[in-house]
Amino acid sequence: MSLEPFRSSDDYAAAYKASVENPELFWADISSHLKWQKPWDKVLQWDFTKPDINWFVGGKLNITENCLDRHLESRGDHTALIWEANEPKEKAKKYTYRQLHAEVCKFANVLKKNGIVKGDRVCLYMPMIPELAIATLACARIGAIHSVVFAGFSAQSVADRINDSNCKMVVTSDGLNRGAKQMSLKKLVDEALEQTTSVEKVIVFNHLDWDPEMKSGRDLWWHKEMADVSFWCPAEEMDSEDPLFILYTSGSTGKPKGVVHTCGGYSVYAEYSFKNVFQVQKDDIYWCTADIGWITGHTYLLYAPLMSGITTLMFEGVPTYPDAGRFWSVIDKHRVTLFYTAPTAIRALMACGLDHVLSYNLHTLRVLGTVGEPINEEAWHWYNMHVGKERCPIVDTWWQTETGGIMISAIAGLTPSKPSHAGLPLPGIQPVLLNGEGKEIEANNEEGYLAIKFPWPSMIRTTWGDHERCRLTYFSTYKNYYFTGDGAKRDENGLYRIIGRVDDVINVSGHRFGTAEIENAINQNKGVIESAVVGYPHDIKGQGIYAFVICDKLPENQEHVREEIYETVSSQIGRIAKPDKIQFVSGLPKTRSGKIMRRILRKVAEGEISALGDTSTLLDPTVVEEIIAGKL
Ligand code: PRX
Repeated sequence: MSLEPFRSSDDYAAAYKASVENPELFWADISSHLKWQKPWDKVLQWDFTKPDINWFVGGKLNITENCLDRHLESRGDHTALIWEANEPKEKAKKYTYRQLHAEVCKFANVLKKNGIVKGDRVCLYMPMIPELAIATLACARIGAIHSVVFAGFSAQSVADRINDSNCKMVVTSDGLNRGAKQMSLKKLVDEALEQTTSVEKVIVFNHLDWDPEMKSGRDLWWHKEMADVSFWCPAEEMDSEDPLFILYTSGSTGKPKGVVHTCGGYSVYAEYSFKNVFQVQKDDIYWCTADIGWITGHTYLLYAPLMSGITTLMFEGVPTYPDAGRFWSVIDKHRVTLFYTAPTAIRALMACGLDHVLSYNLHTLRVLGTVGEPINEEAWHWYNMHVGKERCPIVDTWWQTETGGIMISAIAGLTPSKPSHAGLPLPGIQPVLLNGEGKEIEANNEEGYLAIKFPWPSMIRTTWGDHERCRLTYFSTYKNYYFTGDGAKRDENGLYRIIGRVDDVINVSGHRFGTAEIENAINQNKGVIESAVVGYPHDIKGQGIYAFVICDKLPENQEHVREEIYETVSSQIGRIAKPDKIQFVSGLPKTRSGKIMRRILRKVAEGEISALGDTSTLLDPTVVEEIIAGKL
């Protein structure tokens, strides 16, 4: 029986109450709507101190049966996936549930034929094409753990991620389209594999007819492998707590960590949160603009909409190609009803004027969503007025790679949607604000550190290969709480407003980077002695990256050294992490014990020079004057 979302604010309130009063009973009921190969024995066992979290203990299921097989009888001919190409003239591709099921089974057989078995790690480094969705689901079909790496990351980043989880296979394509540009992927995979030893096979999808070099014995063409396999593949029986995927994300330390999500809880929460937040109806055509390389693409482009049996749209291109009307033209063309995007995209399109958005018919839209970063009021109102025509509720969804699904958000049309506020927690989610001493702040109209005090099904279980790192990062700052790393404020009605990160993480266009990660990359550059990176407010990206760099001697040609640094960061991490501003300095503000005082650098980058605070404890207070004088 399919899960029906609640349809009134009273239903929401009743569900929330039930979820807190008796979480096990609550989730037992929700989970019963999924297809289980074997029912679970116990709903929840948990201990945040270790952490050791188990949901739906003893249950067996396969998420792809819930995404595909269970719809075949009733909705087999319904469109599951629409693919819109980078070029508007290229015909959109459509897959019914039956066709998608067949493609997934075929590629699952290709994986098996090439030695992939349950538990093996497979790295997917691909453009936004249907084959990425198919490969992801195919891994899940046979119980291989997928590790999708966003195609904007560099060869070095791919190598690091492959090595961290010992991937046995890479699936990629010759190259990708990105607006007017094309970029190679296979070449980067070749480069990455020079630094790895675990990969045995590389499967290459021919997307651009580029004829890349193929290494014999290792590299195989997708189309050739798919030619002679069966379109039926049984769904592997997966334990609720078997890993489903690894997704790397940045934190305050230099090395990205592999967040691990497991099969049972993730499936239950993905479907539940999606259907309720977006108030999904069975004929919805839903478009999430996120790349599958990020958690939003995993949960809300791929898994949740397919579990819900609706049509999900996947877009290869960028919002501004061939012009800034592309999003609106795609909504018009495919009659999109639910639209989910990032504030940075809204701000960028807002800056391009109203003509683009007014040229298209957006009347099919019913719900609008945002994710990834705080949305400023101006962008919220523009989205509401010009895209939603003041008749579509906006859901500002707060969540994280680690939470697996939406945690705090309006329920479209049912619970309050206030500009710049994520809103109320979803049923099953128990957020708290903590003060500096780790005590819960009970009152409203207060600000604090955002933590969660009770487990939810799709929460992070571990960080791949290093459980202690998971404990230290999320479960040790405040005992018995999951710590989010965000600061938040609760208004007089209990609505949460996310203020931003309180750790050394920068959120650039909704993408997370650790300052240490970018500093490590900058420091690889010849002549650089030390650097310090901070975030600063950026009109389009939300936060920009400001780097203070010390070189062995002050560069004569600063532009030249800047270019070199961009190049180094692009090759170490990816072009998405390039600093927006690089200021050369002769020293950094440090305490007598040698610690960089980032607070001061942040204030300088933000232009709040009058609010620097006490600088008398610095080893050399004069560096601050120099830094202020040279501010970009
Ligand atoms: O700071 C919060 C911000 O993005 C962080 C999570 O980043 P990531 O794991 O990459 O996942 C992004 C997509 C789920 C959070 O710690 N963030 C995410 N959504 C919002 C947000 N900040 C404000 N409002 C949001 N709606």
